[in-house]
Amino acid sequence: MDIVRIAIDGPSGAGKSTIAKRVSAALGIDYIDTGAMYRAIGYKMIQQGIALDNEHSVKEMLACTEIDFSAGDIILDGAVINDAIRTPEISRMASQCSALAPVRKKLVELQRAMGQKKSVIMDGRDIGTNVMPDAEYKFFVTASPEERARRRFLELTEMGQAVTYEDVLEDIIRRDKNDTTRELNPLAKAEDALELDTTEMGIEEVTNKIIQEVKETWQQ
Ligand code: DC
Repeated sequence: MDIVRIAIDGPSGAGKSTIAKRVSAALGIDYIDTGAMYRAIGYKMIQQGIALDNEHSVKEMLACTEIDFSAGDIILDGAVINDAIRTPEISRMASQCSALAPVRKKLVELQRAMGQKKSVIMDGRDIGTNVMPDAEYKFFVTASPEERARRRFLELTEMGQAVTYEDVLEDIIRRDKNDTTRELNPLAKAEDALELDTTEMGIEEVTNKIIQEVKETWQQ
């Protein structure tokens, strides 16, 4: 059976991780949430009080950091941190620390290694353009900022977090700007990626389209 690598890129809250999880279950392949890896680094920087402009400390911290996925959990230095990294504070820090060269270098290396030996679906911002430019399938999943803010607001309130829709929207717009304008591997659609908009189509329909596309052409 041939290895298949699927790249899903797009802005925050477009539905990438929901889609990627479902596609991974339907095809029986591993899911790698690369945003969670940047969140893990942001989380550790806050825990250790490391400033974004302190390159020496950032590098020291990265040298003794282990990130792994196991049965759907993200593990940082041996501890499961699934929920701790889903706060607005960590979202902001993840976006900021993802612009740092040493952080990207370490995580991109790890991601490339994870996508080398087995079939994977990986979601993020630079997967089709930088992490796996030779992926067999590439999708760029988008949605309007208002729709993305609505979804993220529901998610956060369901988790019991006290946030307002306006704050979430503002956060999304700020993060879009950070993610698309940063110097290193900014969020961008790969030329050969298929663009799918979940505002109109809905997450279910986009998921089915991706599964259908891969099933029809993979292993033939
Ligand atoms: O997908 P997410 O919201 O969990 O990602 C958190 C941050 O990580 C996001 O603001 C940008 C950054 N990121 C990145 O720079 N490159 C990736 N491949 C994935 C995420």
